[in-house]
Amino acid sequence: MVLGSGLSGLADGVSGGVSIPFREVPGFPEPTVPGHTGRLVFGEVEGKKVLLQAGRFHFYEGHNSDVVVAPVRMAAGLGVRSVLLTNAAGSVSSGLVTGSIMMIEDHVNFMARSPLAGPVLEGEQRFPDMSQPYDATLRGVAREAARELGIDLPEGVYAAVLGPSYETPAEIRLLRGVGADAVGMSTVPEAIAARASGLRVLAFSVITNQAAGLSKDPLNHDEVLEMGKVSGGRLEKLLRVILGKM
Ligand code: HPA
Repeated sequence: MVLGSGLSGLADGVSGGVSIPFREVPGFPEPTVPGHTGRLVFGEVEGKKVLLQAGRFHFYEGHNSDVVVAPVRMAAGLGVRSVLLTNAAGSVSSGLVTGSIMMIEDHVNFMARSPLAGPVLEGEQRFPDMSQPYDATLRGVAREAARELGIDLPEGVYAAVLGPSYETPAEIRLLRGVGADAVGMSTVPEAIAARASGLRVLAFSVITNQAAGLSKDPLNHDEVLEMGKVSGGRLEKLLRVILGKM
C-alpha cells in the first residue's frame, strides 16, 4: 500500500511491524519532498499482512522509472497480489469538494512517459491491457466499506501530470475537457507497473484543493499537506475496513 503526501498515518498504526527507512533499501534514494517521510513498514493491519510504503518517488524529482516504480516491482517480487495507492490531488470538477475522498475509476496519463518504456522486465508484460486499470471487485469492497462508515465516496477519473509546477487555469480547462475529475503528480506510474505484473489495483485521491482557476487562492504544497492530514484520518479508517474485507 502506498501512502502519499500527508497520508502516512496508517504506517504508525501497524502492530508489531518492521520499519525500514528507504535509504537502507538497495536502489531506493531518500525522498526529496517534505511530507514524504520515506519508509517501508511490514506488518499486519486488520489481520492482513501488509507492506506499507510511506512516501514515494516521483518523476518530477528527476528519478527515472527504475526508481519511481521500484517499490511496486519489489512488492510484486515479494508475492503481493493487490496494490492500494493513495495520493493528494486537486479537484478539476466542480462537484468534488476539498476534503473529499475520490475513488479512482480510471486515469489519463498526461506525464508523457511510461514506467514500462525500455526492456521488458521478468514477470511484466510488454503491452498490458488497461481496459480495467482499477479492479472492479476491490472497488465494490471499497463502496461497501464506505457505506458502512457513512463516508461519501465519489468515483472519478484521475489525470496524472509530470509537475512539479501546479497547472495553469488553461491546463485545468483542458483536463476537464478530457473528462478528468482530479489532477495530481503520482499514482499512474505505479498503477501501470502493477498492471504489467497482473496485480490488482485500487486507488484513492484525497482532494486537498481546488485546481488552478477554480479558486481565488494560489496553490501551495503546505496547504496540500495540511488538507491531506485533515482528510487522511477518514481515508485511514476506510483503508482499514477495506483491508478487513479483502
Ligand atoms: N495539481 C497537481 N497535483 C496536486 C494538486 C493539484 O492541484 N493538489 C495536490 N496534488
